[in-house]
Amino acid sequence: MRMLDIIESKKQGNKLSDDEIQFFVDGVVDGSIPDYQTSALLMAIYFNGMTDSEQTKLTMAMMHSGDHLNLSSIEGIKVDKHSTGGVGDKTSIPLAALVAALGIPVPMISGRGLGHTGGTLDKLEAIPGYKVEISESDFKKQVQKEQLAIIGATGNIAPADKKIYALRDVTATVDSIPLIAGSIMSKKIASGTDALVIDVKTGAGAFMKTLDDSRALAKALVKIGQGVGMDCMALISDMNQPLGNAIGNALEIKESIDLLNGNGPKDLLELVLTLGSHMVVLAGKAQTLDEARQKLEGTITDGSALERFRAMVVAQGGDGSVVDHPEIMPQAKFKIELPAKESGVVSEIEADEMGIASMLLGGGRQKADDQLDYAVGIVLHKKIGDKVSKGESLMTIYSDTEQIDDIKEQIYQNVKITDSASAPELIKEIIK
Ligand code: URA
Repeated sequence: MRMLDIIESKKQGNKLSDDEIQFFVDGVVDGSIPDYQTSALLMAIYFNGMTDSEQTKLTMAMMHSGDHLNLSSIEGIKVDKHSTGGVGDKTSIPLAALVAALGIPVPMISGRGLGHTGGTLDKLEAIPGYKVEISESDFKKQVQKEQLAIIGATGNIAPADKKIYALRDVTATVDSIPLIAGSIMSKKIASGTDALVIDVKTGAGAFMKTLDDSRALAKALVKIGQGVGMDCMALISDMNQPLGNAIGNALEIKESIDLLNGNGPKDLLELVLTLGSHMVVLAGKAQTLDEARQKLEGTITDGSALERFRAMVVAQGGDGSVVDHPEIMPQAKFKIELPAKESGVVSEIEADEMGIASMLLGGGRQKADDQLDYAVGIVLHKKIGDKVSKGESLMTIYSDTEQIDDIKEQIYQNVKITDSASAPELIKEIIK
């Protein structure tokens, strides 16, 4: 079998056989297929898609490319959540702490930034000392003892995805349903979780821009999960504007801590409580979503969720004092306000463009080996539907240089102020 023929076949829009998909995944992992051929096939898949059976084969081949965690030694129903990626999407961090505070084991395997979106692992690494790569046995011990861990798919979980994910990020092949489905579900099936809630983002800042595409992705993800016996559901949530107010690694950790202290932005809190309620019901710790929500709210009020977060940070080598002193994380040299040029109501804050602005400030990668600047980013003071007066600050830009005229201009072009607008509906659909 030759990789060139596989690329040619997908380029022509043909269905790949199971053997061809297996050959591709094996070659990615053992290094016999060079990055340029992998990238070419990814682009052919991007343009020509995959059938359900190709998608399932790709997922299973990627899943079998590495180890399969056996979490059966951990008591209780293990529940995880995964997002398809967004801007300002720090949901996993407070969510894992809230759910774990109810005694539910949350073994979370997260990713790094992809395209214009941020990654949970990059955010957590803004905390001094926090290690995202821990051994399988330490991961299990931590989940057993502390009820939660957020780590990278290190060791040997879906190594094929690791390689392909990094290449997709720099070859404009992220927003493809079969590639996203294979990436997410290979890791989730390999991670041994019993139940999974998936947050499929939709809108300008999501990989899937339309509700139809997001629905198709949600259905593909749920079908693959249920096909292997996982208790799996998805919801589709808005990503036209950034989630919460903060975009940028340390800034998003600070916002997560604020939420755990009861001071989180309304939309982020709503999403955390909605996803969390489904996780709690799947874990069998509440009969109804309302009961689950009340229990989760209680973990914020009594401080137990914040303490779970601190316990996780410490267990993973991080400085737990970040909870009381977020300023121990890297701080930007300059805080630059962006005043509104006119009065009115904010009607658009293009999430993808805000993600790109944060990346250009140094908060995201433009090339696979770029080092991140954890301090930089944006804090929005206005969201869609908010009134603003001319001269009032729309947002603060955290930067290590004052020379950001291009970035300011790019942001201005992507924030609209009109006579009226209302906040978008946050949760669009539930897919079971
Ligand atoms: N998250 C993943 O793990 N993979 C993707 O492809 C997109 C989001």
